[in-house]
Amino acid sequence: PRLIYITRHGESYDNVLGRIGGDASLTESGEKFSLSLSKFVEKHQAQFEKNITDNKKSSLPNMSLPNPDFTPSKTLFPSPSPQGCKLEIWTSMLKRAIQTVQYFDHSKFKFKKFSVLNELYSGLCEGMTYQDIPKVYPREFSDRSQDKLFTRYPGMHGESYVDVIHRLQYIIVELERIRNSVLIVTHRAVARTLLAYFLDINIEDMPYLNIPINYVFICEPKHFGNDLSLYKWIE
Ligand code: F6P
Repeated sequence: PRLIYITRHGESYDNVLGRIGGDASLTESGEKFSLSLSKFVEKHQAQFEKNITDNKKSSLPNMSLPNPDFTPSKTLFPSPSPQGCKLEIWTSMLKRAIQTVQYFDHSKFKFKKFSVLNELYSGLCEGMTYQDIPKVYPREFSDRSQDKLFTRYPGMHGESYVDVIHRLQYIIVELERIRNSVLIVTHRAVARTLLAYFLDINIEDMPYLNIPINYVFICEPKHFGNDLSLYKWIE
């Protein structure tokens, strides 16, 4: 059993100005969210781990050996996850995401940064507001309004949601492979893509999922699909 926590970075200066993309720092509110996030996730994860241990203890079967020719043996392989590390913390390479995890105890958890968790790259529109874009790139803005999934932002390396899906395949494989809980601090388009995967949401609906800042989505993998719980930060 494990949990996958998904959240956006705390409020950034670009969020306040309504600018997309960029590499802005956190505002004072974003800083406060980061501090609360570290306390919340550390406690939530500790409680989750305690519940698992308690359940294991209470349901330990009193089994007699099915066949005396076989006896329980110690494992022959090294333990798959490092001792004492049950939660990994993954961020994008952008400042606002890295700053959002600054208050976690860095000696307690494994931290990883992935550029594939960066926000959907808006090419020539980086730094613009949604009001600026139609004035400068009216055709691209209208194309994107009609087909957000496939429309790429103009300019070198401008991305569409389909591009983000492709680059996240590596993260999905890694998430499925490891056994630890993971907190992913990322951005709106990436959070939409990951949550659509875990919650089996229709791909056409994915680019429109409502994922505000200051919310923590927790997916708990079950035998058939994932359970979702949602927490909102109260400033
Ligand atoms: O506005 C914040 C933001 O993360 C932008 O940086 C990004 O371009 C956008 O959200 C993605 O959302 P949408 O695809 O709805 O424009």
